Amino acid sequence: MIAPARRAAFEVVRRVFEEEAYADRALASAVEGLDDRDRALAQRLAYGTVQRARTIDFGIEQLGKRPVRKLDPPVRAALRLGAYQLAWTDQAQHAVVDDAVELVRAAKRERAVPFTNAVMRRLQQGFNGLVASLPEGPVKHSYPDWIAELWMRDFGAEGALSLMRAQNERPDLEVRSAEPVGEPTDVPGAYVVERVDPERMRPMSRASQLAALVVGSRPGDRVLDACAAPGGKTEMLLGEVIAVELHPGRAQVMAKEMPPNVRVVTGDARTIEEGVFDRSLVDAPCSGLGVLARRPDLRWRARPLPELQLELLRAAAERTKPGGTVVYSVCTLNADENEAVVDASGLETLSLADEWPQYAHPTRPEFLLTRPDRDHTSGFFIARLRVPS
Ligand SMILES: C[S@@+](CC[C@H](N)C(=O)[O-])C[C@H]1O[C@@H](n2cnc3c(N)ncnc32)[C@H](O)[C@@H]1O
Repeated sequence: MIAPARRAAFEVVRRVFEEEAYADRALASAVEGLDDRDRALAQRLAYGTVQRARTIDFGIEQLGKRPVRKLDPPVRAALRLGAYQLAWTDQAQHAVVDDAVELVRAAKRERAVPFTNAVMRRLQQGFNGLVASLPEGPVKHSYPDWIAELWMRDFGAEGALSLMRAQNERPDLEVRSAEPVGEPTDVPGAYVVERVDPERMRPMSRASQLAALVVGSRPGDRVLDACAAPGGKTEMLLGEVIAVELHPGRAQVMAKEMPPNVRVVTGDARTIEEGVFDRSLVDAPCSGLGVLARRPDLRWRARPLPELQLELLRAAAERTKPGGTVVYSVCTLNADENEAVVDASGLETLSLADEWPQYAHPTRPEFLLTRPDRDHTSGFFIARLRVPS
């Protein structure tokens, strides 16, 4: 019998690569009916396989001598899942090989069983050594070339490798809580915990919380949250908050959870007419290169969005009163979506270096840049800007 966690992980891997499903959503349906232990194992196996796909495919091609893209999808998924377990888990190797074969059989690919068995055995013998012998870089750490190239450009060779390694590790579980829980951090209200109690805390990285704190909203302010869902930062804003979200489904879910000072508006922040604001937050959509550890499939679908980001920043500035502030934040690590967008806006920068020196951007210290490798939190770029008087 195929181990239930492996069967669920196989389903997730197939849906992510064959249907472009989001890994977290595919997981939620695949683990229905499993106990907590199997759920956790299925998540680890599925997410790890998705994350390490480039390294795994390299191994299958070298040792299996067949281009991965030409493999029948269930065979490809079974080999990928098997290779991941051989190299990055302590699952019993014979059980991993047997289950890979059984998954192919269960998918009614009987004719591919001998091939699967042969490739799994070659992987069992040679894959760990092959990974160890790979030069440091995007194949070994399983990133697309374009991400590695951007990080080399912006952070140098060592910085890029360090970011690649860090975002293959399981991140700390950071939450926002009104009362002390777990380990406190240097961001007020942010804690590191072992597990989330949804009654008392909300999962949210401390870097993400930092962006909302930098807004500095106060009771009496009229505040625009231009890209609001799912609303983690919105909840932290004081004053009368207009939370704009383009996606109707996301706006609807968030509206049910917001405190009374928040009004959710479904619409495009570039065209809304909601009057003038004292402060604005633009937590813009982005490539997400600072949250790759939390979203294993994101590295394969991410794309930079500098034009949209600049339009959103300009729209928020136009709706903010003269002398008011706009905070621009993105959970990504590349100059094109970060400092270049702020520079292109032409807005005056208000330095954050004195308030949060530990997170000062390495080359532009007026901005903040949290790093998954150094700070063990998500990677965020944060800028505070002033609208001309
Ligand atoms: C990075 S997320 C925001 C996260 C949120 N601020 C939080 O802390 O929970 C960006 C959001 O902006 C929304 N969005 C994208 N384009 C938009 C637009 N033109 N106007 C308003 N919202 C937009 C996306 O649907 C997405 O929910």
